[in-house]
Amino acid sequence: MAFNWKKDIREQSANTIMLLDECHFHYLSQGEPRKDFALVLKAYPHIAWYISHKMPELKDWIGKLNQMVADEPLPADIDNLVGNLLESMEDWIIYVTTPDDYHRQSFVGWDEKELTSLTDYTGKTVVDIGSGTGKQAFAVAKFSKTVYCVEPVWNLRRYLKNRANEEQSENVFVVDGIIQNLPFPANFADITISGHVVGDDIVNEIAEMERITKPTGMIILCPGNTDTDNDIHKILLESGYSWSRFLEPGDDFGSGYKRKYWKVK
Ligand SMILES: C[S@@+](CC[C@H](N)C(=O)[O-])C[C@H]1O[C@@H](n2cnc3c(N)ncnc32)[C@H](O)[C@@H]1O
Repeated sequence: MAFNWKKDIREQSANTIMLLDECHFHYLSQGEPRKDFALVLKAYPHIAWYISHKMPELKDWIGKLNQMVADEPLPADIDNLVGNLLESMEDWIIYVTTPDDYHRQSFVGWDEKELTSLTDYTGKTVVDIGSGTGKQAFAVAKFSKTVYCVEPVWNLRRYLKNRANEEQSENVFVVDGIIQNLPFPANFADITISGHVVGDDIVNEIAEMERITKPTGMIILCPGNTDTDNDIHKILLESGYSWSRFLEPGDDFGSGYKRKYWKVK
């Protein structure tokens, strides 16, 4: 899907695929094998070599993609194929190349009071899951004792560290990790927050966030999904979460009324 967050997304080199992170390739390998990806790998076998050597556990998947198409695409078709592929993973490409193209979108400018007014962060240890460019983490860092940013994408971890240095946020620490397996012991955080991340496997994600959150601690989620009573909404309510609406401003892809959820464990 084209978000139109970056103008020249289609013109990037096919090699940009090699900047993607393990979480991206794992995600792709878990879905139906994609013919568009198979064709691009056929045209650029060094990318297939790179993925299967960096992540040997994905060798079988790369092999399947290789068998999926018999011939290399025609030279005249390659630019279009690569452009379509990169456009279909526009957010990932932006994270691994130019995170500012995400950060400057108008919807990221939502009112931080939506987060800070829900509880008192003073003296608290906060974990922010899927920190991205740090919208949520830095909004609460001003008040908290410590904020741990969990982010699986290396280029975003670099962005967050640079931002912490620039803003002299000495209480912000950046760690690698995924929501399915958070790198913290049980009952570690006073407050666990996450924006635009939960949803793919909501039941297990809730369990993992509640594992790392202290009893009487708080979990605050802004899933970023639209303002509807979808399955994520129903499961969060069944799990004891309260909710309300808020506006992510502007008219970019991603703007509009969203829901936030919170629960005291
Ligand atoms: C749409 S961005 C949201 C960034 C930020 N939280 C915000 O609200 O602006 C989604 C973020 O989640 C990260 N992410 C993707 N899969 C993840 C996973 N399984 N666990 C944790 N974070 C993940 C992405 O790398 C990206 O930084």
